[in-house]
Amino acid sequence: MDKLVVKGGARLKGRVNISGSKNSALPILAATLLTPETCIIHNVPDLSDIRFMLEILAQLGAKVTFENGTVTTRAEKVITEVPYDLVRKMRASICVLGPMIARCGQATISEPGGCSIGDRPIDIHLKGLAELGAESHTQGGNVFIPKANLVGKEIFLGGKFGSTVLGTDNVMMAATRAKGLTIIESAACEPEVRDLAEFLRKMGAKIVGQGTRRIEIEGVDALGGVEHTVIPDRIEAGTFMIGALITQGDVLLAGADPDHLVNVIDRMKSCGAHMKCGPEGIHVSTSRKLSSIDLVTETYPGFPTDMQAQLCALMSVTPGISAITEKIFPSRFMHLSELRRMGARVELEGATAILHGVDHLSGAPVMASDLRASAALVLAGLVAHGTTEVNRVYHIDRGYEHIDEKLRALGADIQRVR
Ligand code: EPZ
Repeated sequence: MDKLVVKGGARLKGRVNISGSKNSALPILAATLLTPETCIIHNVPDLSDIRFMLEILAQLGAKVTFENGTVTTRAEKVITEVPYDLVRKMRASICVLGPMIARCGQATISEPGGCSIGDRPIDIHLKGLAELGAESHTQGGNVFIPKANLVGKEIFLGGKFGSTVLGTDNVMMAATRAKGLTIIESAACEPEVRDLAEFLRKMGAKIVGQGTRRIEIEGVDALGGVEHTVIPDRIEAGTFMIGALITQGDVLLAGADPDHLVNVIDRMKSCGAHMKCGPEGIHVSTSRKLSSIDLVTETYPGFPTDMQAQLCALMSVTPGISAITEKIFPSRFMHLSELRRMGARVELEGATAILHGVDHLSGAPVMASDLRASAALVLAGLVAHGTTEVNRVYHIDRGYEHIDEKLRALGADIQRVR
């Protein structure tokens, strides 16, 4: 099992190229099941989650190639069974459900279960699909949709945590082939949902309202093959932004889209960060420690839950008391116990982390638990006195393309040890 060994002390300086968005590429790859024609997708990051989704497409009958960031896929036929061992390893594989129903009128898929950031239910996915005519029943951990005659309808997709990203994706993809008009109320507005909608429109789908809480989809008879370039990864950009701030460095996040990070940029500026946004990307720097923060994670355009762990790392060494409340995945705090091992002073009150900024952290061997928690531990290691070993690095490789190489190029002392 690989680990990352980080020696703290370097300020990050220079330019980092932001990769394509994992959370945009995954549903777009699933959407290629909607057509028997060839799809070409550029700017796809080389991540284990992506390679896993390509393996799923291949097992479902598609012919897939992946070279230099470009995926070419053609699903002339689609098998409608997605076995447990594929879904349990990556929850996001649930987003093949909508395309499969739209293409084949039936589907069998295992329930994703939970993961280290908490329970990952799909009740809203299934409710939305059932409203379109794809009734499901669950038995032995599998979801069966034996027969789906998709008819458009007005559907409310809100849950107790607000909107659902992949739930919106699944219903939107199924609705592209439903008879008549589907209206999704309380849709997710994330940039990745917008990017998927753009991909579907290129395939011939009739969609308006993507990026707002209300998306309208007029069903069509068939969808065609397309070429598309995936948007930049706003969470990778945000992670390197925190890296620049925690080390009091000066970094250009090349290729990042400031429009996807308005909330994060605003909140970091309010803590004293310097930000310059332009066609090249986002230039972030600070010459002194920031001020503490009181923040709640929310659905887009709020502060993203996928940036919460990284923010905790930053605020653990920021003077003052910070309160960070997690409203999307209330138990997404596995990183706190590891940050404590490095000397962070933090208590958890319900779904709120109360961080008392310390003068410095101390390097220690720590355990990665989920994708963003592992990134947070690497960021903490960049400023800790001494050496930090982040074990179980496969979590990081799921969502960050060559993170050690990119950090080294910015001056960090970080090595991957097999
Ligand atoms: C997507 O997951 C992202 N993954 C997650 O990123 C991200 O944290 C999440 O959206 C929230 O922004 C991908 O896009 C591949 P949700 P998703 O459905 O769609 C509850 C990362 O680090 N819910 O928006 O699965 C759910 O439990 C990953 O890149 C239901 O109750 O998340 C959660 O509390 C981690 N019932 C909330 O809604 C449902 O049917 C939001 O979840 C569906 C969701």
